[in-house]
Amino acid sequence: MEYQNKKMFKFAIFFLHFLFTISSSSTIIPLPSTLRASARNQSWSSPNSSFSLLFVPITRSSFFLAITYNPGNVIVWSASNNGTGDAVVVDSGGMLNLLRNGALRLVNGSGPIVWDTGTANRGVSHASIDDSGNFQLLNSDSFPLWSSFENPTDTLVPSQNFTVGKILHSGSYSLSLDRSGNLTLKWNDTVEYWSLGFNSSINGNLSSPRFMLRPNGILIGLDPSIPSGMVNMAFSTDYGEGNDGFRFLRMDDDGNLRIYSTSGNSVAGNVTPTWAAVTDQCQVFGFCGDTGICNYRDSNPICGCPSQNFEPIDGRKGCKRKVELEDCPGDVSMLQLEHTKFLTYPPEVSEQTFIVGIAACRSNCLQSGSCIASTLVADGSGFCYMKTPSFVSGYQGAVLPSTSFVKVCGQAVPNPPLYKDTSGKYDESRLHVMVVVVVVLAILLALVAVATGFWCWFYWGSEKSGYISAKYELFDYASGAPMKFSYKELQQFTKGFSEKLGKGGFGAVYKGILTNRMAVAVKQLEGIEQGEKQFRMEVATISSTHHLNLVRLVGFCAEGRHRLLVYEFLRNGSLDKFLFTPEESLNWENRFNIALGTARGITYLHEECRDCIIHCDIKPENILLDEVHTAKVSDFGLAKLMNPKDHKYLTLASIRGTRGYLAPEWLANLPITSKCDVYSYGMVLLELVSGRRNFEVSPETDGKKFSLWAYSEYEKGNIEAIVDKRLEQVNREQVVRAILVSFWCIQEQPLQRPMMGKVVQMLEGVIDIERLPTPEPVAEVSGSSTTMTLNSNVGALSTYATSTTAPSSSPSFINMGISPPRSEKDTAKESSSLLGLK
Ligand SMILES: *[C@@H]1O[C@H](CO)[C@@H](O)[C@H](O)[C@H]1NC(C)=O
Ligand SMILES: *[C@@H]1O[C@H](CO)[C@@H](O)[C@H](O)[C@H]1NC(C)=O
Ligand SMILES: *[C@@H]1O[C@H](CO)[C@@H](O)[C@H](O)[C@H]1NC(C)=O
Ligand SMILES: *[C@@H]1O[C@H](CO)[C@@H](O)[C@H](O)[C@H]1NC(C)=O
Ligand SMILES: *[C@@H]1O[C@H](CO)[C@@H](O)[C@H](O)[C@H]1NC(C)=O
Ligand SMILES: *[C@@H]1O[C@H](CO)[C@@H](O)[C@H](O)[C@H]1NC(C)=O
Ligand SMILES: *[C@@H]1O[C@H](CO)[C@@H](O)[C@H](O)[C@H]1NC(C)=O
Repeated sequence: MEYQNKKMFKFAIFFLHFLFTISSSSTIIPLPSTLRASARNQSWSSPNSSFSLLFVPITRSSFFLAITYNPGNVIVWSASNNGTGDAVVVDSGGMLNLLRNGALRLVNGSGPIVWDTGTANRGVSHASIDDSGNFQLLNSDSFPLWSSFENPTDTLVPSQNFTVGKILHSGSYSLSLDRSGNLTLKWNDTVEYWSLGFNSSINGNLSSPRFMLRPNGILIGLDPSIPSGMVNMAFSTDYGEGNDGFRFLRMDDDGNLRIYSTSGNSVAGNVTPTWAAVTDQCQVFGFCGDTGICNYRDSNPICGCPSQNFEPIDGRKGCKRKVELEDCPGDVSMLQLEHTKFLTYPPEVSEQTFIVGIAACRSNCLQSGSCIASTLVADGSGFCYMKTPSFVSGYQGAVLPSTSFVKVCGQAVPNPPLYKDTSGKYDESRLHVMVVVVVVLAILLALVAVATGFWCWFYWGSEKSGYISAKYELFDYASGAPMKFSYKELQQFTKGFSEKLGKGGFGAVYKGILTNRMAVAVKQLEGIEQGEKQFRMEVATISSTHHLNLVRLVGFCAEGRHRLLVYEFLRNGSLDKFLFTPEESLNWENRFNIALGTARGITYLHEECRDCIIHCDIKPENILLDEVHTAKVSDFGLAKLMNPKDHKYLTLASIRGTRGYLAPEWLANLPITSKCDVYSYGMVLLELVSGRRNFEVSPETDGKKFSLWAYSEYEKGNIEAIVDKRLEQVNREQVVRAILVSFWCIQEQPLQRPMMGKVVQMLEGVIDIERLPTPEPVAEVSGSSTTMTLNSNVGALSTYATSTTAPSSSPSFINMGISPPRSEKDTAKESSSLLGLK
């Protein structure tokens, strides 16, 4: 009987499928119909089977109702009751009934209705599921009375509209859109830890804002009142790369919003995140639970507890005091945590802010009955945040310029030096690892001792080789975190620093080969005075950057007065060789890709990595090329290394920039911001187009500097004069875009130069490029027969700059409102010097 039913059912579906798919791209499900949890392979699928509504098994006897995208079984919707995003779970007797009266109900095995669309007696005539993944209940006019697109769970698929009032839920986290077109991520509906506006100039209610993910991976915002019809809000990293796979947007249970891509033809459904709203996962409020502390290991976020006064609660749920504060009146103390902050997001009201010193930040909290923790931000603001809510979310990182205090019962018992982890999928028990490591090491040591004994016994006096470096074969150099090398090892790898690759502003570079045969470039830094700890902190910052267009730091050495950095080796060397030597050349496509790659790398340094970095020395010599001519920016983060005593800004006195690429404000000894890099980048871009040094002066350029001459030629409409004669075929539209962008970048006023992120978008053609402003752009001293040596004589240069460029330009630089570089490390240093107050 049961079998017969099933057969009938299948036939009916097949028949209807056949009947209806001809006229529309959706499968029609007639009234009444039923899906059973226990019947495997029973589903309602879209015409081309890309989406199906079915029961997904959790265990043998528990299921939930979902719409899946089929190659890879990506769950894009699940039946859930409002407010949680958790799917409704039924047992094996569960079923989905589409009743004759139009109701769609999920019934648990024992009978109760556990989920209902509320469409009974409203005229539903049939249901349908289409190839975009939308499951609908429609009336006889094909008007949808209910649809899965209008009732999303935690995922949006391409072309699905997300409007005001809808919410994506995942655990305590939610995503919503407000009437002014702001997308926000919230924890527990109270703490707003991320937001992204359609357009910053919108302040007020839009008529009907919505956003959607396009199939190509761009997140767009739309409203009838937006002039251009839409705004691009975010891009998945693989958009425009010809990946025609399926993409979707998901509110993940770790509080991050991500775009995922599946590769086009992969049946296995290889799903990779290609964009995340919060780049720094530890900034997600509540990620490690109440009083949990987020940290990174090998660039993976991990969770821990503040001290041994706490014990972890399972599964990233946070930490609780072993003795509650109520249970120890009069015996509380403050635990001090360096480089730690408790996350504070503006709308939070349950806290007070003071501007006080470190001692007061500690004692104020200690004396206040309601305060449970406090954070002093040592970024120059001196803000002390007193935390009174019951839930606090911590973040610890070697370069965070904050000190925090947590109220504990009795004596504070700090964690052992090895950071103790708690739980969750992001980490494994460190203790176990330690035990294993110790045991393994002991065994290895014993073996080595025995082996060495034998070795000495048998080969005493014979040629020794390779023994010292053998231990490195155990490590994987590609695994992210930089290695610490000894000076002796680097001497071996570079054969006594014999093969010199070049000499840059910071010291000579040598080729080396590691024991695993990896080729590296070893940079011997000169003139670094800072101590080992400071140096390691800078190295940590540099190595925390991971980007396709940045040269990867493999390791470092800080021993005595030796300071060396070990980078990946790039076979094609630096860009200048290709641009300025007649015999070598790159085609236009390569050049344009190098321009884009370089811009993306710098954008990452400025805007996307955890500790923003101003490069300060962008020039062709510092842009390296790999085998396929991918641009990799090198030497970033070194300006700061050379400059240990800086405060708010980097200053001229401390950095040696390179003539021709230095922004005018630099020459005028004014504060250096990321816009200096934009200027230098603009010069490099012009050189990519022209194949000539921007400061080159020749009769052909009417005795003017090339950059000035190029601008005048551009004004005359003579683009061809600017373009490198060696280029046979160019994409004229790209060339014009590149030239315009470069002129925008080398504007004298830092404010007028675009941010690097915008440069990328302008080059890509994603946004239009405005007309150049009327005043002359390149206001470096022209008619420059002046020769000046920058590197050797800083003082002379300052004087030079002051007497010529500075007076005319300085007033406009005051209060120019450009975000100053963050100088966390230095302020962190200041705060750590105050530790004695504990
Ligand atoms: C359905 O019934 C099972 C037991 O048979 C129960 O575990 C489950 O929680 C029920 N689901 C709902 C949503 O009540
Ligand atoms: C199914 O149809 C949709 C919409 O027409 C299309 O985008 C998708 O590529 C198709 N999928 C398959 C597997 O054919
Ligand atoms: C999204 O909204 C727009 C405007 O309201 C509408 O025209 C379009 O059909 C909607 N798309 C879907 C898939 O519902
Ligand atoms: C939307 O976001 C912008 C900037 O992020 C902010 O200035 C504005 O106040 C927000 N609007 C609302 C209604 O929250
Ligand atoms: C979440 O918010 C609710 C109501 O606003 C509150 O009762 C609850 O305690 C909050 N949860 C946590 C973990 O703070
Ligand atoms: C933002 O809105 C303003 C005015 O509504 C408009 O001029 C500007 O082009 C918009 N920006 C983008 C990126 O769409
Ligand atoms: C925007 O809409 C909200 C409610 O929808 C209303 O309370 C608010 O006053 C409106 N704001 C403006 C500027 O119209």
